[in-house]
Amino acid sequence: MSFVVAIDGPSGSGKGTITKLVGEKLGLINIDTGATYRCVALATINKGYKLEEESKIVSLLNEIKIEFKKIEKEEKVFLNGKDVTKEIRSKEVNKIVSQVSHIPEIRKKMVDFQRKIAEGKNVIMEGRDIGTNVFPNANVKIYLDATPEERAKRRMKQNKENGIESNYEEILENIKFRDHNDKTSNVAPLKKAEDAIYVDTSNLTIEEVTKKIIEIINHQFGDASKIGKN
Ligand code: DC
Repeated sequence: MSFVVAIDGPSGSGKGTITKLVGEKLGLINIDTGATYRCVALATINKGYKLEEESKIVSLLNEIKIEFKKIEKEEKVFLNGKDVTKEIRSKEVNKIVSQVSHIPEIRKKMVDFQRKIAEGKNVIMEGRDIGTNVFPNANVKIYLDATPEERAKRRMKQNKENGIESNYEEILENIKFRDHNDKTSNVAPLKKAEDAIYVDTSNLTIEEVTKKIIEIINHQFGDASKIGKN
């Protein structure tokens, strides 16, 4: 049996942390779809391609291999055999990833890849278009949100923990810029699926959000603790 929990929302809404925690608690495989677009953005930078050089960026699809691996209980992302977990969160990648993710050929290939890695598994998948496009029939759909200021604060903290230097104003600006790009995209605009449950995390702790999401899954599915055991 395959069970899919779709977690969508803007960057910094807490998706990454919450998806990981809920996944661990319920025995679901955690898939971070943003990481797939970040890998393509990193490959673009490594090749020295400019955003305008769309066909060159698209040609990268034949050269890149993305893998998710759990190493010593840590989820790692590999690009052509190299651990890029940290690198894909750099300022440089943040700057171009939204535009890269809106190139139709890139989206198509990444969505195919995301569906493939979830095939036949019980997953909790986080992204922007999981409930609307990747898995429109997901068993449970949740849309996580928070104010841009709160999200910028969280990103600062996350960067600090990962040893990445950052500036609040710069991060806030980048979040607003990406929100705008993501919500107005012709390709896959960020929006709540009609049947998704909206959760505003601005004034909630990580524990409170995790508890809420598990309650939602339990309410929609029955006893969520049994999912991973099927
Ligand atoms: O969640 P994130 O910040 O790691 O996502 C990075 C970028 O990828 C973000 O600008 C939106 C895009 N993205 C997307 O278009 N569709 C997804 N399913 C996930 C991410």
